[in-house]
Amino acid sequence: MQVSVSAPLDIGGTQDRFYARASSVRLPMIVRASGIRMWDEAGNAYLDASGGPMVSCLGHCHPRLVAAMARQAATLDYAFSLVARNPRNLELAGRLAGLAGPGFERVAFTSGGSEAMERALQFARQHAVATGAASRRAIIVLEPSYHGGTIATSAIGGDQSGSAFHDGFAVTAHAVPAPMPYRPSLGPSAADHELECARRLEARIRELGPERVLAFVMEPVGGVSRGANVPSPGYMRAVREICSRHGVLLVFDEIVTGTGRTGPFFAMEHWPDARPDLVVLAKGLGAGHAPIGALLAPAAMVDRLADASGFELAFSYNANPIACAVALAVLDEIEAGELLQAGRVRGAELEAGLRALQERSPLVGDVRGIGLYWAVEIVADRASKAMLPADARPTEALRNHALANGLMVYARPTSGGRYGHWVTIAPPLNATEAECREILDRLERSLAAYERVLRADGLIR
Ligand SMILES: Cc1ncc(COP(=O)(O)O)c(C=O)c1O
Repeated sequence: MQVSVSAPLDIGGTQDRFYARASSVRLPMIVRASGIRMWDEAGNAYLDASGGPMVSCLGHCHPRLVAAMARQAATLDYAFSLVARNPRNLELAGRLAGLAGPGFERVAFTSGGSEAMERALQFARQHAVATGAASRRAIIVLEPSYHGGTIATSAIGGDQSGSAFHDGFAVTAHAVPAPMPYRPSLGPSAADHELECARRLEARIRELGPERVLAFVMEPVGGVSRGANVPSPGYMRAVREICSRHGVLLVFDEIVTGTGRTGPFFAMEHWPDARPDLVVLAKGLGAGHAPIGALLAPAAMVDRLADASGFELAFSYNANPIACAVALAVLDEIEAGELLQAGRVRGAELEAGLRALQERSPLVGDVRGIGLYWAVEIVADRASKAMLPADARPTEALRNHALANGLMVYARPTSGGRYGHWVTIAPPLNATEAECREILDRLERSLAAYERVLRADGLIR
């Protein structure tokens, strides 16, 4: 009898079936997590040093968040915002508006960062149309920058590697240089470079015609596309003045930096004289336990738009009671544990440790960041700041060495590697001193292992 053996059907698979085959990064199958640690199916433990992409701000499976989720799921799972109100929505909007302070009295919730950014663009545009400024439609962003993964938000992001996809397909933005003080491309010094970056913003507004410019969107502290670079107060002040002078809305993408990542609850608190007009946040707000994002806007704008056309675009899951309950528990935990203060202390220790590591590792060209949000830029040569070749996929290689040393760090090749290569270190706000030390030890071992490979391959001397 002939037995036919058919090959197993190749169906399903995890998300990475969609990722580039060329990617060399190993993705462990994680089956369990607690606090800062994750375990794969073979029982290997990893320290989650960047909370995924700066999401898990209180560690994994946090008891307070788990309990809030379970309680809310058992009481009221869902109430669609176009047909009903829910108390968690009311409570969370009030708490966030209180934290943000004057100018941010209204809050709209989404299911994540990209949606929140998209909502901000829609809101800004609809407000302009409703208030007799319909010619304002141009968006200006920084290059490099990242503002989300939907068609609209990826099209405005300052990363030219997607330009063939967006060309003729989506509305793109006008890019102006981002302050990148480690490699100042404009001006002889970092300070000149930053002021020139601000001047370029104003020049671009004038070139487009101020009456045609709707908004300038920026991450107040560079996200993954820039590696946690922190602009100077002078740059931020200049940006605010330029936007005000030309009636351009200043939009802060605080999707990464909100929820205490940089020290205060919002990064905007670092520059009190450069307050934005609109703010979006996400990531840490749900702390990895529930998907949620938020747009914060002034009552004057929201109420005026409500009087005119209204702003009724809704996602089925916006202001979801379970997601709002988790976010409220995040705020409670931050308050109860005085975690903003704790995060600042931990951040200072982490900075000292990373700077010491930079002294010891020839691969570390730059360490930059603020609060508990740090990037480690790796280079071929520290003195000249020469980059490692992009086709050697340096961040992927370092991520693999980190995994081999029980450490998970986040990095994504951005802008085709044109601006350099870095990995992100962003432990939870409640990380202990010992956990941060362990991150530093494991990172140092990973860098040393990668350095040996690079030397053997003749990529560094
Ligand atoms: C600065 C910034 N904006 C927007 C987003 C998009 O957020 P989400 O992935 O939650 O849609 C991200 C995500 O990495 C981000 O880093």
